[in-house]
Order: sequence, then structure tokens, then C-alpha cells
Amino acid sequence: MEAAATRELAPAPPAHIAIIMDGNGRWARNRGLPRVAGHERGAESARAVVRACRELGVAYLTIYAFSSENWNRPQTEVNDLMGLLRIYLKREINELDSQGVRLRFIGARERLPPDIIAEIEAAERRTRANQGLVLAVALNYGSRDEIVHAARAIAADVAAGTLRPDQVTEDEFAKHLHTVGMPNPDLVIRTSGEQRLSNFLLWQSAYAELVFTDVLWPDFTKDTLQQAIAEYHRRDRRFGARRG
Ligand code: IPE
Ligand code: IPE
Ligand code: MG
Repeated sequence: MEAAATRELAPAPPAHIAIIMDGNGRWARNRGLPRVAGHERGAESARAVVRACRELGVAYLTIYAFSSENWNRPQTEVNDLMGLLRIYLKREINELDSQGVRLRFIGARERLPPDIIAEIEAAERRTRANQGLVLAVALNYGSRDEIVHAARAIAADVAAGTLRPDQVTEDEFAKHLHTVGMPNPDLVIRTSGEQRLSNFLLWQSAYAELVFTDVLWPDFTKDTLQQAIAEYHRRDRRFGARRG
């Protein structure tokens, strides 16, 4: 009886889902709208996906909001994106905090507008003790930049004599990444039909399952998320070992 009941339970969701939220521009273009309208709707999708992850019991969600290469877009679009971020940070923080969400931001702080840096630091401080979903927002994030900075910090420790070269292990290296303290993503989802990582969590995704969907990010719903999770559950994760 008990065994049958257990079998019917849905499998546990992946502990860490990371999403490359792509396709806002195409969504807007398809409707004859300005790109910023796509980014606005995309922000609503992000909101919905946070709620869905909480409902499904996902422990960690990382969303790619702005890459280190996105500075190469026209200044007006960069301004629009920063503007939306400002609005959402202010608007969502109370609700996220009351839901027990712990916010963190990964990526380089340097190039971000000072008021946004202040806002994200305040959000991290305020939600630091929360015990619910960990929501990592990748902002001015690029994996290669992250890895180079980790290598530089380690080189400095070795040069200073506080770390021996043989102590530079995978675990030691990962301590210098922005994702320190987070498990590696189990599932990486990219929307909009593109099948590439675009400099996202390269180290951390070494054994992640990749799921690509043609859905444009503003059209992404809890349903799309559940389909991606179902696809994840159909995969056989071997981590280089073999079964049987
Ligand atoms: C994703 O949508 C949002 C960001 C990269 C900031 P895009 O703006 O890349 O949308 P497409 O790829 O042009 O459709
Ligand atoms: C990746 O999307 C970055 C984010 C989703 C924030 P892009 O639209 O910038 O990626 P490319 O240029 O198509 O590789
Ligand atoms: Mg894109």
C-alpha cells in the first residue's frame, strides 16, 4: 500500500534550476511593439516563474537577466533594461521578502549604476536570513569573467604564500565563483529556440541537463516550466559513470 502511494508521488523537482530568459525582443517584434514592451512582459514571466518554483519546491533558481555582453546593445536598450530592473527591485522586494525568498546577485558589480548596486546590496542584506527559495539574479554576469577573477584571486593567494598550488582544487576554485555556497544547476533551460549558453554558468553547468524550448520568454508559464522539468526527469544522469 505504502509502496504504491510512494510510486504515485511526483518525483522531487531539480534542486537548482537556471534559466536563460531569451526572446523578449522577438516577442515584441512579432507584435509590432518596441523591444522594451518585450522586456516588460519578460519581467512578468520572471515573477511568475519565481512563484512557480516556490510552489513546486525548487530550492534554487538562477535567472540570467543581463549578460556582460549585453552592454554591447544600443544605449537606449541598456537604459530601458536598467530602468525596468530599478522598478522591479523596488516593487518586488517586499513581497519576495515576505515569501521568505533569499535574493542574491551574481555577476560583476563594477559597471552597474551606483543606485542599482545600492539597491541590490540592500535586497541581499534584507533577505539574508530567509529560509525559502534562493533566487540568484545574474546581472552583468559572464562566466569567463567570473573564472578569470577566480583565477586572479587564487594567484594572489599563492603569490602571498597563503595558498599552496596543490591546494588549488575544484572545491577551492568554486569558492571564488559568484555562486559560492550554491549547488550546481541540475537543469538549465533556454527559451526562444537558441541552443547555446551565451557565457552562462559554464563551470557550474558541467553536468547540468540542458533543455531548450522554442517558447519566447514573455510566453513562458508554469506549464512550460513543468514541461521542462518533465523532460529533465526523462533524462538519465550518469556523470560519466555507467549503470549496470
Ligand atoms: C532576453 O531577450 C533579454 C535580455 C537578453 C536582456 P532578448 O532581448 O535577447 O530577445 P531577442 O533574443 O532579441 O528576441
Ligand atoms: C543571453 O541572451 C543573455 C540573457 C538572457 C540575459 P542574449 O540574447 O544576450 O544571447 P545571444 O546574444 O543570443 O547569445
Ligand atoms: Mg536574445
